Amino acid sequence: MVDVLLGLQWGDEGKGKIVDFLANQYDIIARFQGGPNAGHTLYLKDKKIVLHTIPSGVFHEKLLNVIGNGVVIDPVSFKVECEEIESLGVNLQACMLISERAHLILPTHKALDKASELAKGMNKIGSTLKGIGPTYMDKTGRNGLRVGDILKNDFLERYQILKEKHLTILKQMNMDLQVDVEETEFFAAIAALKKYQIIAAEYWLNEQIAAGKKILAEGAQGTMLDIDFGTYPFVTSSNTVTAGLCVGLGIAPKHVGKVYGISKAYCTRVGSGPFPTELDNEIGEKLRKLGFEFGATTGRPRRCGWIDLVALKYACMINGVTDLIITKADVLDGMDSVSVCTSYQMYGQSTKQFPYDINEANLSPEYTQIPIWDKALSDCKTQSDLPENFIKLLEIIQQETSVPIAFVSNGVGREQLILLQGN
Ligand code: GDP
Ligand code: IMO
Ligand code: MG
Repeated sequence: MVDVLLGLQWGDEGKGKIVDFLANQYDIIARFQGGPNAGHTLYLKDKKIVLHTIPSGVFHEKLLNVIGNGVVIDPVSFKVECEEIESLGVNLQACMLISERAHLILPTHKALDKASELAKGMNKIGSTLKGIGPTYMDKTGRNGLRVGDILKNDFLERYQILKEKHLTILKQMNMDLQVDVEETEFFAAIAALKKYQIIAAEYWLNEQIAAGKKILAEGAQGTMLDIDFGTYPFVTSSNTVTAGLCVGLGIAPKHVGKVYGISKAYCTRVGSGPFPTELDNEIGEKLRKLGFEFGATTGRPRRCGWIDLVALKYACMINGVTDLIITKADVLDGMDSVSVCTSYQMYGQSTKQFPYDINEANLSPEYTQIPIWDKALSDCKTQSDLPENFIKLLEIIQQETSVPIAFVSNGVGREQLILLQGN
């Protein structure tokens, strides 16, 4: 059986914390897409850890962590991340398995990412510049290099062919590049990658399912960044939705059980692209300050706004969410009131459908306002502690999405999570 946990907004919903919390109910945590563009934060006692490619179950003993075929790996940043986690006493050689089918990010993929963003100018995606887009392009273009290839005799030759292809493209884009230093680093990192267990993960995972083991698939990014269903072209280059786990791990849909969908109690986005409920004013700044909304991977300030239930309902539909988890509720404690977008006004009409192409000039969110509660959510321990006005907010979310809320997260710590009974 496989449950999946994924973001329902534009990423950074708090997936790392929730995976870390749920991890002890599972035998295996598996990443199925994305790569070092992800930044998943969790706390080990008081120490803040940000994971990029390594699954968030890594601090739980007895758990195994899989990096699936759908993930793209940058050996250089992966080596740094592994060393950091190993310095904390985790034996990654024992508890981490990597699919031989996962694709490799080359130094020239990162250069191509930069060149592409430069060429787009004002229309840039706001990419993390980790080489994600160009690597997935080579994957679908059938040119990519995979983790399993590093064990083959012709790896160097194949690397050179792909590198030369990239350098030619870069030259056409007026970027004459030397990658000697990066290349030395890359090959040192490839040698380090060989230390870990590289396996036929699709066979291994299916054997584990047959043996009755429980797997939690950990999504990266969020539904509104999905290549098919997100705010294209301002998206990432992978399928971040539930269906992505089947192709990103080699697990058939019939094995999928619960779908945990995570949403903040408000909304953020980092990078360019439409964001209907964005607050480009002092209220948005307050949310950023109270929620400490700065990118876990790039440090960029995140754009902030109110929760958007049109987008959330859409995300629940695409993913088949069975259990909603609302995070960062405590951040709203500091606001004067809370607004919830329940529909959009578009071309003079009210709609609850997320449009194909958002033209923000012709769209205005329609809000329901909720007065702020009289008791800090950060002090609440159980459902019965929750203030009435916050319960009203939860009811509106459930009503609009038709999905029950399973948990409310009210702090960064693993234990700062309130289970909602009867849901
Ligand atoms: P992810 O990419 O979905 O794993 O999320 P990030 O780690 O990028 O960003 C979430 C941020 O919010 C991290 O700094 C978390 O420590 C923090 N966080 C998670 N849950 C809560 C919560 O309930 N309350 C508060 N105040 N912070 C939270
Ligand atoms: P986690 O897993 C938030 C955004 C980038 C950019 C767009 C494309 O931590 O939630 P890419 O580097 O993929 O080419 O960037 O997607 N983005 C994220 N935003 N959280 C993430 O991951 C993100 N990964 C990519 O900011 O707008
Ligand atoms: Mg993040």
